[in-house]
Amino acid sequence: MNFNLSEEHLMIRDAARDFAQTELLPGVIDRDNKQHFPGELVKKMGELGFMGIMVDPKYGGSGMDTISYVLIMEELSKIDASASVMVSVNNSLVCYGLEAYGTEEQKQKYLTKLVTGEYLGAFCLSEPEAGSDATSQKTTAIDKGDHYILNGTKNWITNGGRANVYIVIAQTDRDKGSHGINAFIVERGTAGFHIGPKEDKLGIRGSDTHTLQFNDVKIPKENRIGTNGSGFRFAMKTLSGGRIGIASQALGIAQGAYELALKYSKERKAFGTEISNHQAIAFKLADMYTEIEAARLLVMKSAKDKDLGNNYDRSSAVAKLYASKVAMETTVEAVQIHGGNGFVKDYHVERLMRDAKITQIYEGTSEIQKIVISRSILRD
Ligand code: CAA
Repeated sequence: MNFNLSEEHLMIRDAARDFAQTELLPGVIDRDNKQHFPGELVKKMGELGFMGIMVDPKYGGSGMDTISYVLIMEELSKIDASASVMVSVNNSLVCYGLEAYGTEEQKQKYLTKLVTGEYLGAFCLSEPEAGSDATSQKTTAIDKGDHYILNGTKNWITNGGRANVYIVIAQTDRDKGSHGINAFIVERGTAGFHIGPKEDKLGIRGSDTHTLQFNDVKIPKENRIGTNGSGFRFAMKTLSGGRIGIASQALGIAQGAYELALKYSKERKAFGTEISNHQAIAFKLADMYTEIEAARLLVMKSAKDKDLGNNYDRSSAVAKLYASKVAMETTVEAVQIHGGNGFVKDYHVERLMRDAKITQIYEGTSEIQKIVISRSILRD
C-alpha cells in the first residue's frame, strides 16, 4: 500500500488550498452571516475544474480520480463548507449520476454545462415524509405516454434556489415499491415548478437550501434517467459516491479546526506559558490529530475503492460515519481550546463547529450509515 500522494495529487491539493486561501477565506464570515454565496465564486470553481472533477474530458470534465476529489473537497471544506457542499452535490450527485446513467443526449445537453460552472445541479430525493426512509417517496411521476406528470414536494435541497438542472426522484408505480421509482431531469423554469423560500440554517449558511414544489410539471420522456423503475438504485449508487464527498467535507472541517486550534495554542499564554505547554491542551491536540489521521485513511480507502472499480457502498458509509463524528468532536474541542475567543465569529472555529453538524445528517444520517454498514457486513 502506498500512503504517499503523487506529484499530480500534490499539485491538485495545492491549487485547491491556494483557491481556498485567496478566494474563499476573505468574506467567509460575511457569507455565513448573510447566508449568501456569490455566483462568481461558483464560476471560478468551474474554471479551475472543481465542478466536474471526475468527469471525462470528452464532456469537458477534469478527468481526475476520486483521490483528487477528496483532496479538493478537504481543502475547500477547511475554509468554507458552504462552498464545498455545492461542489460535492454538483460532482457526486449530479455529474456522476448523469455520466454513469444518462443518455448521450442528456450528457451533451446538461453535463457539458455542469462541469464548467455555467450550470449548477441539485439532487432532489428528500421529502417532508421521506428523508431517511427514501423508498417512501410521495412525489409522483405519472406516465402519460410521451411524457410524465410530476407532483410533490422536495425538502432541504442543496443548490435548490439557484440550480439550472434538478435530478428529481419520484414514484411512478407505487405497487412496485422501490422498483417503481424513477429519476428525472427537471429544468429550472419548467411550468409548475416552484422554488420555496430559503432555509435559515444552523450551519453551512452560505449554501442555498430550499423546499421545491412540483405542480403538474410536464417532463418529456427523454428526461428520465435510466430504465423504467431504476430510480431508487440510481439514487443509492449516486449517494454512495456522495458519501465520499461528505466524508471528505467532514475531514476538511476537522482538519481546519485542528489547524486553528494548534496555532492558537502556540500563541495564547496562560499561567505563564503558551497553553500548548499545558498537558490538558497538548493531549486534546494529540487526540484530534490521531482521530483525523484515522478518518483520512478511511476516506482515502473508500476513494481508492471507487477508483479501482470495487464496490464502495460499505466503505463510503464507514468513511462518512467516522469522519463526520471526528468533525463534530474535533470542532467542539477546537472551540474549547480557544476558550472565550472560540465563541466569537472572528476566530472561525464556532462556524466550523456549526458546519460540522450537517455532516452527520445529510446524504444519510449517521444512523442510516449504520444501517448500510450492518446490512453489508451481515450479508458477508
Ligand atoms: N446499490 C444498488 N441497489 C441498492 C443499493 C445500492 N447501494 N441500496 C439498496 N439497493 C436496492 C436493494 O437491493 C433493494 O433491491 P431489491 O428490492 O431488488 O432487493 C432496493 O434497492 C431497496 O433497498 P432496501 O430494501 O435496502 O431499501 P430500504 O427502504 O430498506 O432503504 C436505506 C435503504 C439505506 C435506508 C435508504 O433508504 C437510504 O439510504 N436512505 C437515506 C437516504 C439519504 O441518504 N437521503 C439523503 C438525501 S440526499 C442529500 O442529502 C443531498 C443534498 O442536497 C446534500
